[in-house]
Amino acid sequence: MKNTLTIALSKGRILDETLPLLEKANIVPAEDIKKSRKLIFDTNHDNVKLVILRATDVPTYVEHGVADFGIAGKDVLMESSTKNLYELVDLNISKCRLMTAGVIGAELPNRRLKVASKFVKTAKSYFAEQGIQADVVKLYGAMELAPIMGLADLIVDIVDTGNTLKANGLEARDLIANISTRLVVNKAAYKTKYQQIEPILEMLRDAANKV
Ligand code: ATP
Ligand code: PRP
Repeated sequence: MKNTLTIALSKGRILDETLPLLEKANIVPAEDIKKSRKLIFDTNHDNVKLVILRATDVPTYVEHGVADFGIAGKDVLMESSTKNLYELVDLNISKCRLMTAGVIGAELPNRRLKVASKFVKTAKSYFAEQGIQADVVKLYGAMELAPIMGLADLIVDIVDTGNTLKANGLEARDLIANISTRLVVNKAAYKTKYQQIEPILEMLRDAANKV
């Protein structure tokens, strides 16, 4: 429907914190998202729909304008190459840090560094900014294994409590970015659907300020 506003949500960890936030903003799914296999949900607002996506796909849906809003981690937004969106609100949820990490006490070798990460673009630009020569290899998970197995000198990964690093004999080194979940909007929709977008935006902004 032409006047429908679609909000793309990241599934997984962020979804657990997004649903209470949406409720605070009086956006309530018509059925229990956590118990359903559906991917698209009506809400208590006739004109608002929710779609549940893999976190890394959220910027793509918003960039193409098929979702008006997106809710995604800053890490995912930094890594995505999408340009067609505005980052409007820091939702203050799923806070963590993007950091480099390595084997506890290990000195870095005197050569080009080997780095493993699922955040390849972010890692490359971080090391370039630091003036450090590094080759970055893409991994899709369990990055903590890479330094232990000798695949990499450092990893670039999310750190919250630090327990995952510690459990694998690793330590956090340098902070790349403080991460939290952000509300993004498609640039064109922000102009053409402003009248509809504004009240939803304000509700989400208020809810985020109460977190
Ligand atoms: P996928 O496997 O679908 O690629 P994922 O397993 O990385 O995703 P989650 O673990 O659900 O996804 O994390 C999604 C987002 O939550 C991350 O992009 C980040 O912004 C945030 N996040 C990840 N780990 C943590 C953490 N330990 N504490 C707080 N927030 C986190
Ligand atoms: C995330 C992240 C780290 C861990 C950091 O993993 O990839 O491995 O959390 O949190 P900590 O510092 O509190 O230990 P997650 O639990 O989401 O698993 P996954 O990324 O492998 O899905």
